[in-house]
Amino acid sequence: MNSELQTAAYIAASVLFILSLAGLRDQESAKRGVWFGIVGMAIAIAATLADSRVPISAVLVAVLAVGAIIGIVVARRVQMTAMPQLVAALHSFVGLAAVFIGANSALLGGQFDSVAERVIHEVEIFLGVFIGAITFTGSVVAWGKLAGRVSGSPLLLPARHLWNLLLAVACFVLLLLFIGHAGLWTLWLMTALAFVLGAHLVLAIGGADMPVVVSMLNSYSGWAAAATGFLLGNELLIVTGALVGSSGAILSYIMCRAMNRKFLSVILGGFGSTQAVATAIEGEQVAVEVGEVASVLASASSVIFVPGYGMAVARAQSAVSDLTEKLRAQGKEVRFAIHPVAGRMPGHMNVLLAEAKVPYDLVCEMDEINPDFPDTDAVLVIGSNDTVNPAAQEDPNSPIAGMPVIEAWKAGQVFVLKRGQGRGYSGIENPLFFRDNVRMFYGDAKDSLDALLKALA
Ligand code: TAP
Repeated sequence: MNSELQTAAYIAASVLFILSLAGLRDQESAKRGVWFGIVGMAIAIAATLADSRVPISAVLVAVLAVGAIIGIVVARRVQMTAMPQLVAALHSFVGLAAVFIGANSALLGGQFDSVAERVIHEVEIFLGVFIGAITFTGSVVAWGKLAGRVSGSPLLLPARHLWNLLLAVACFVLLLLFIGHAGLWTLWLMTALAFVLGAHLVLAIGGADMPVVVSMLNSYSGWAAAATGFLLGNELLIVTGALVGSSGAILSYIMCRAMNRKFLSVILGGFGSTQAVATAIEGEQVAVEVGEVASVLASASSVIFVPGYGMAVARAQSAVSDLTEKLRAQGKEVRFAIHPVAGRMPGHMNVLLAEAKVPYDLVCEMDEINPDFPDTDAVLVIGSNDTVNPAAQEDPNSPIAGMPVIEAWKAGQVFVLKRGQGRGYSGIENPLFFRDNVRMFYGDAKDSLDALLKALA
């Protein structure tokens, strides 16, 4: 393939990747967005393989085939709730690839027309390996925490910020030595230090902040890919890396805002070690039987469902969809209130509801639906906890004070579907469950909804 044709193919792939990201903005265009991404990637792979510098061998074809098969099997098998750890594992591959490519370039050396050109090349190698190594071990630790293989509580070594700073300064000194041709040992030593830095940075972050960390590592993996793109002189890799890097950074920022956390305090870790003491809650949680829930729903004319992580765990989305259909058939207004960080990853609830074929126009974002709760007859909180915690607004001592929440308590009657007295992700009690207009409908969310559907029949 000549280079003009390859450039054209790379531009087409870049445009498709941008359209893909734009398509993922809402549910209706998401499927189209995924297809743009698939076509863009197919063009990118084909154009790369057609490059005369790429020797097509049996080994290359076999590696591509094995990778594709593993990818398909893993994607088909993964549970929705295990998606964050899969994403973390995939980021670790990007990081490791950047380390290998950088190391390979360093070993190959090269001919340069000027000193400036050589220095730029060496800085690219160093940066690619540095970011890649941090991404690799950071992602492996994030995977371990999310999969429950590593403790979720933050590891807080004495003077940990100082250690991080020392490691970063040591890497910078090694960069100067590397450029000054002190030898390849400088690159290998920096790689080892960056591995330690990546693991230490993420070990210090508590389990509750892990989804933000995954999104941040997503961003790092993008920058590692962009650095590799500069190294290989591959424009598509630079564009794709920059897209991943910036979208990951923006997503991390949005998630932090939705949890009322400062980005820097998430990255520096330690959340959960010095929590404020929340004000004690008075009253008791009152359980309710399915019959009472059914009779309140039967007489309600407006109902809002507030799905959360528990709905995902119980895989109750189809039952929720059936209940929605039944209530709407009876002429009731049914809507969904979605908190930006409900569940364990961005868009978690939207994906589950779309999968269960809940009409998109019933699914509302928190800010859009919050003003409607005082005029709503009944609310079903389905496996949500932190995202409906009124303490965020009312108790300045609460560890989640200031976090935007869904104002479910303002509705006429609230039913909370959960298995027992378990806490939410933040590990704090929820005063909502003790309110006069709130009743606890205990049980696995799927079982409770099936019973409710039967009672309404
Ligand atoms: P959570 O606060 O995590 O609460 C989930 C509730 O579901 C628990 O209280 C649990 O109570 C219940 N539950 C678990 N399994 C259940 C089952 N099978 N049936 C019924 N209920 C079940 O959920 P949320 O309101 O969705 O909030 C999400 C949390 O994750 C927030 O703290 C958020 O900050 C955090 N987080 C999310 C993200 C993203 S991007 N989504 C990122 C970072 C952090 P029982 O044990 O009593 O059943």
